[in-house]
Amino acid sequence: MTPPRQPARRRTAVLATVPVALAALLATTGAAAPDATGPAAPEAGGRAAPGTAGAPGAGDAYFPLSGNGGYDVRHYDLTLRYRPAARRLDGTAVLTARATQRLTRFDLDLSGLTVTRVTVDGRPARFTRDGRELVVTPRTARAKGRDFRVTVAYHGTPGPVTDPDGSADGWIPTDDGAFVAGEPQGAMTWFPANGHPRDKASYDFTLTVPRGRTAVANGVLLGQHTAHGETTFRWCQAEPMAAYLATATVGTFRTERYTTRDGIQVYNAVDPREARAAAPVLKKLPSVLEWESRLFGPYPFRAAGSLVDHAPDVGYALETQTRPVYDSAPDLGTLVHESAHQWFGDSVSLTAWKDIWLNEGFATYAEWLYSEQHGGPSAQKTFDALYARPARDGLWAYPPGDPGGGERLFGTPVYERGAMALHALRRAVGDRDFFRVLRAWADEHRGGHGTTAGFVGLAERTSGKRLKGLFDTWLYTRGKPDRA
Ligand code: ARG
Ligand code: ZN
Repeated sequence: MTPPRQPARRRTAVLATVPVALAALLATTGAAAPDATGPAAPEAGGRAAPGTAGAPGAGDAYFPLSGNGGYDVRHYDLTLRYRPAARRLDGTAVLTARATQRLTRFDLDLSGLTVTRVTVDGRPARFTRDGRELVVTPRTARAKGRDFRVTVAYHGTPGPVTDPDGSADGWIPTDDGAFVAGEPQGAMTWFPANGHPRDKASYDFTLTVPRGRTAVANGVLLGQHTAHGETTFRWCQAEPMAAYLATATVGTFRTERYTTRDGIQVYNAVDPREARAAAPVLKKLPSVLEWESRLFGPYPFRAAGSLVDHAPDVGYALETQTRPVYDSAPDLGTLVHESAHQWFGDSVSLTAWKDIWLNEGFATYAEWLYSEQHGGPSAQKTFDALYARPARDGLWAYPPGDPGGGERLFGTPVYERGAMALHALRRAVGDRDFFRVLRAWADEHRGGHGTTAGFVGLAERTSGKRLKGLFDTWLYTRGKPDRA
C-alpha cells in the first residue's frame, strides 16, 4: 500500500520551528485519493431492525455504520496480549453499558479478528458477524435504562482499515510492535466498540507484551510487572473518552515519568531511533500545556505525555487522549496542535463528523496563537498569507462546515479555513470576548460534546453580536469568501 500523500496532521507543520517559516504555510493539498469507504447501506447486510434491536449505526452521515444504537457504553475493560513477532492479538473486552431502549439484540463495531465467545451478564449469548458489525443476541432482552455487561473473547492478526483519504487507521503493525491510532474508524480493528464519538466511556487497559517491549495506553499507569518473559502494563483512563482516541501502542521505548507543577502525571515513551530529535520538543510539553491552560482553561485530564513511535509509513499524528501518538519525532507546531486537541476534540467531543472543524480548525488556530505569542508571525499575518491564495487554490475547494465524508474530512479547508473562521470571529468580537468564548466552550462541554450550532450560539451570547453571517461565510459558503 502506498502511504498517504496528504497526511491529516501533515508532517510539515505550520510551525516548523519558532519563528514560523511562512513558506510552510504555502504547502498545498495533494490530489484526492479514491473514496475507499463508499456509501453504506442504512442496514448492515439488509437486516431488518425490529423495534427492540439496536441500530447498527449511530446515524452519522459520513460513517453510517460507525457506532450503534440502543445502548450507551459507560466503561471498557480491555485485557490484551500482543506478540509482535507473530502479530498475534488475544483479547477480552468487558463493556459495561446502559440500555437506552428495550434491547433484544445489539451491535458492536468490530473489523477482522475472530470472536470465540460472547456473554451478556455472565450468560453465553448468540453472536454473528456481519461485515464490520458484531451482532449480539442475549438470552433475554435487556430492559430499558438498565446496565448490562458484555464480555467478548477474541483473537487474530489485527491490521488497519484504510480511510477514504488513503491513510491507515487502527492497529498498524510496526517493526517492533504496533502504532495504534483510530481516527475516525480504527478502534474496531482492535476492540469491539461503540465506535462513534457520541458515546464516550472510561477505560481500563491491561496490556501484556514480551519483556523488553512497552505497551502504552491512555491515562495513568497504575503499575507494571514482569513474569515468564512478559510484561503487563495496567493503564486507567478515568475521564470519558471517545473510542477513536484510545491507544495501546506497543514498541521498544525509552520511558520517562514526572509530575508537572500543576500536578499532571506525565508519561513519555519514545522509540530510541527518534529520541534525539524528539527530546527538545518533548521538554516543552509542560510549558505548552501551561500556556494552553492560560488560554483555554484548566487542562482537562489528570495524565499527559507523548508517545513517539518510529512508524514511517503512517504519515500522521493523532491526539490520543492524554497522550498523543506521533509517527516520528514531532516538531513544536505538531506538539502544540495535538496538545490543543486535548481541550478541543478530546474533552469536548464531536457529536457528528461533519463538525470536524471544531477539532481541526481549533487545534490549527492554537498553532497560530502559539506563534503569535512566541516571537513568530501574528495570527493576522498567517491569516493574510492564506487569504492571499488565489480562488483556484485547494484551500477554497470546499467549505469546512460540512466538508462531506471521504478524503475531505482531514483536508486543508478543514484545518486552515477552519482556523480562519476562528480568526474572523476574533476580529469581529475582539480578544477579550474571543478568549472568553474559547474558555466557556471548553468549560461548558468538558467531558462531553459540542456542535457547530452550539458554538455559534455561545459566541453570540458572549459577545452580544449577531454572528450567523460570519459563520455562514467562513464555514458554509462555497469558494473564497469576499474580504470581510
Ligand atoms: N486528528 C489528527 C490530527 O490532525 C489527524 C488524524 C487523521 N486520520 C486519518 N485517518 N487521516 O491531529
Ligand atoms: Zn488535528
